[in-house]
Amino acid sequence: MPHIHYLPDKKEIETKENETILEASLRNGIPHAHSCGGNARCSVCRVLILEGLKTCALRNEKEQKVAEHLHFGPEIRLACQTTVAGDVRLRRLVLDDEDVELTSQLKGGTPSPAGEEKELAILFADIRGFTSFAETLLPYDVVYVLNRYFHEMDQVISCNSGYIDNYMGDGLIALFGVDDSANAALNAIRAGLGMLKAVKYLKPYLETIYAKSFQIGIGLHYGEVVLGTVGARNLKKLTAIGDAVNFASRIEALTKNTGTNFLVSEAVYTQVKDQVCIGKSTCMEVAGKCGEHNLYEVVGIK
Ligand code: FES
Repeated sequence: MPHIHYLPDKKEIETKENETILEASLRNGIPHAHSCGGNARCSVCRVLILEGLKTCALRNEKEQKVAEHLHFGPEIRLACQTTVAGDVRLRRLVLDDEDVELTSQLKGGTPSPAGEEKELAILFADIRGFTSFAETLLPYDVVYVLNRYFHEMDQVISCNSGYIDNYMGDGLIALFGVDDSANAALNAIRAGLGMLKAVKYLKPYLETIYAKSFQIGIGLHYGEVVLGTVGARNLKKLTAIGDAVNFASRIEALTKNTGTNFLVSEAVYTQVKDQVCIGKSTCMEVAGKCGEHNLYEVVGIK
């Protein structure tokens, strides 16, 4: 059977037939990081083949896709996808204990992913003109207003089976479908409409105290994300990563240009079109995305 010599471990092991390099590492107790669970969906298991590249099996389709995306040279291989037919000398590229602790999800010797690929409804909300609103307020008042606003939004979102993933200044991202994906899009629509209503009720209150108020813009998209735990040590939290999250944020930004408060993507619209009332619909370019995209203004539930 072929042998693999590992650097910096300075360890040599024997492989089994049809075993990937990652499987061989884990079977032999080598702390080989594997964030996606060996599915060619990350690149942390990558190795640099120092000798014996010709004995490595050719890249499969999944590995080729990652290699092209990250511009890997031929000597960089994904250990979770590569089998060897002869002796190989390689270097693991995730090197220190800190990296291993952060990226390894070794459970019982078998690879398991650091995240989960899931289809979710992603809602992005932002306060319009908050900077000019906040400029005239004392900093403690700004904190008070934001806390009051986020409290109201959280109530509405959690009542509709959503979860606030993140706050960014005066913006927030909420996810729907984390635990139960049934009706995720419709729940997010209900939440969005509820948020607009809550802001409307908050307005007279803010105007009484500060003689001014604000509006919000909401963008909603449905798509695939990687749901994973991100952050340092005690600050780790569940969060969604992926292009679908960026798309929701870009849609929100377009509410200003389109004179709307709540815009949804085609992916949302096709799921809820029989249940919601649509105002404007438009087809336009979305920053960072190719081509034009259909967007729909949601004004109510039927
Ligand atoms: S690509 Fe993720 S573990 Fe190999």
